[in-house]
Amino acid sequence: MVSRETSVPEPPALPQWLEPAGGDLTRYAELLAGPGIQRGLLGPREAPRIWDRHILNCAVVADPAQGLVPSGARVADIGSGAGLPGLVWALARPDLSVVLIESLLRRVTFLTECAHELDLTERVQVVRARAEEGGDRAGSADGGLDVVTARAVAPLGTVARWAAPLIRPGGYLVALKGESAHEELARDGAELQASGLVDARVLTVGEGVVEPATTVVIAQRATAQ
Ligand SMILES: C[S@@+](CC[C@H](N)C(=O)[O-])C[C@H]1O[C@@H](n2cnc3c(N)ncnc32)[C@H](O)[C@@H]1O
Repeated sequence: MVSRETSVPEPPALPQWLEPAGGDLTRYAELLAGPGIQRGLLGPREAPRIWDRHILNCAVVADPAQGLVPSGARVADIGSGAGLPGLVWALARPDLSVVLIESLLRRVTFLTECAHELDLTERVQVVRARAEEGGDRAGSADGGLDVVTARAVAPLGTVARWAAPLIRPGGYLVALKGESAHEELARDGAELQASGLVDARVLTVGEGVVEPATTVVIAQRATAQ
């Protein structure tokens, strides 16, 4: 069981679609700002910016109005760390099932405890694996995943190489990339193509909800000809 701290910033006004998840997201914010920081999963200076820099930065990508994460999607989050974006998406979107792929035991332990604490065990699976080795345990063996995401894990080309085998044909890579997105796509575009990911582009989501808005690179796994 994870202990909680109460010294968490007040939740901000949430966009309407996210309001039903407000209580659960607040509990997750407490877990991040308490044991997440105590155990070194997030830096000590992150507490005041848990909402903007972490929870909302991730949540806006799963806004159903954006259409980046389809209804009922099976999702994997590579290098989930403390659960970003995977746990945020699972809390924000009860229609999703989410596999959190993480290589470090300390983080896997925290993710597993959070999944229990937040009542997510029926829809969230925690897999301890290196992404490049863990595909068969992330659902790809039975037809692949609809969406694979990652935030702050590796250069775009590497993320693409790890993610592509997990994505079903026609499914999507949705990589949270920040300011470097255009530069990374220009540099690694050929690697995406070589991994079977096509129509790659940069999108900005969450304007008016989070500052700065979140920048993502999306690309589709090519369908067989
Ligand atoms: C900088 S942290 C980012 C964590 C989280 N996605 C976030 O945005 O806060 C990178 C995480 O990726 C994990 N990681 C790095 N390489 C990995 C790999 N090949 N497979 C699975 N996890 C990996 C690390 O253990 C770490 O938890």
